[in-house]
Amino acid sequence: MIVDGAHSVVGELSQAEFTPAHADFARFLLPYQCAISALTSKVNILKGELTHADHYCPIRAVTSRVKSPDSILGKAARIGCPLTVDDIGTNILDIAGVRVTCGLISEPYRVATLLSQQADLTVIEVEDYIAHPKPNGYKSFHMVVEIPVYLSDRVERVPVELQIRTIAMDLWANLEHKIHYKHEHAVPRRLLNELIDAADAAHRLDVTMQRLYDEVGDPTAGQATHNGAHLELLAPHTIDGWRPGQGRHL
Ligand code: GTP
Ligand code: MG
Repeated sequence: MIVDGAHSVVGELSQAEFTPAHADFARFLLPYQCAISALTSKVNILKGELTHADHYCPIRAVTSRVKSPDSILGKAARIGCPLTVDDIGTNILDIAGVRVTCGLISEPYRVATLLSQQADLTVIEVEDYIAHPKPNGYKSFHMVVEIPVYLSDRVERVPVELQIRTIAMDLWANLEHKIHYKHEHAVPRRLLNELIDAADAAHRLDVTMQRLYDEVGDPTAGQATHNGAHLELLAPHTIDGWRPGQGRHL
C-alpha cells in the first residue's frame, strides 16, 4: 500500500478530506500507540516496585509520542525508504517513542537492563550516548525494543524507541533542541560552545549526585540498590549481544 495520501497530519483533516489513504495510515499507526501504552505500563510497574523496594523513586517521568505522518514521510525520504507501509514499518524504528527520565546516572542502565530481561521484549538496537556522547554534548541511552501488541485477530510485534536519561541530560537536550529550532539549525558558534560546556557541567552534576547518593545510601531500603554488588547484577552487559560502553547497533 502506498501512503503518499498521508502528507497532511491525519488528526487535522476534516471528514470530507479524510480519504481511504488517510484511513489506512491511521490504521497503520494504531499498533504503535498500543505499543506505547504497553511499554509505558511496564515502566510504571517497575517504577512502583523499585520505589517500594528502595524507598526512593528512580524513575521521575515517562513521556511518549507517535511520530507525525509528515515526520515519518520526511524521514522515509531522507533515508531513501520506499513509501509503502511495509517498507516504512521495517525501516523506521522510532515511529513509537517513549522517554524515561531518571534521577541518578546509574538508573538509565538499571531500567534498560530490567526491561531487556523481560521475556516478551526483544532488544533490536542499542545506542549508548551516555558512554559515548555525541560531539555536541548530547547524552542519553537509546534502546529500540519490540513489544507484542494483541489485536483482535493477530499479535503484532511493534518496535518502540526508548530513550532513557537523567534529569540533567533531559534539561540539556530540551534546551539544545529549542536553540536549534529557534536558529533554524544555523546556531552561532558561541552558543554551540556554551552548549558543550553546559553538557560537561551537567555530567559533573550527575557524577557528583551519584557519588553523594552512594555515600549516604538508605539504611531503611529493602534492597541496597546503591550497593555496588547489587548494581553489578543489573549491569547492562546482560542486554543480549551488547557490552557496556559500545554504543552500537545490534
Ligand atoms: P533520527 O531518528 O532521524 O533522528 O536519526 P537517528 O536514528 O540516526 O538518530 P539517533 O538515534 O541518534 O537519535 C534519535 C533521537 O534522539 C532524536 O530523534 C532525538 O529525539 C534524540 N537526539 C539525538 N541526537 C540529539 C541531539 O543532538 N540533540 C537532541 N536534543 N536530541 C537528540
Ligand atoms: Mg536511531
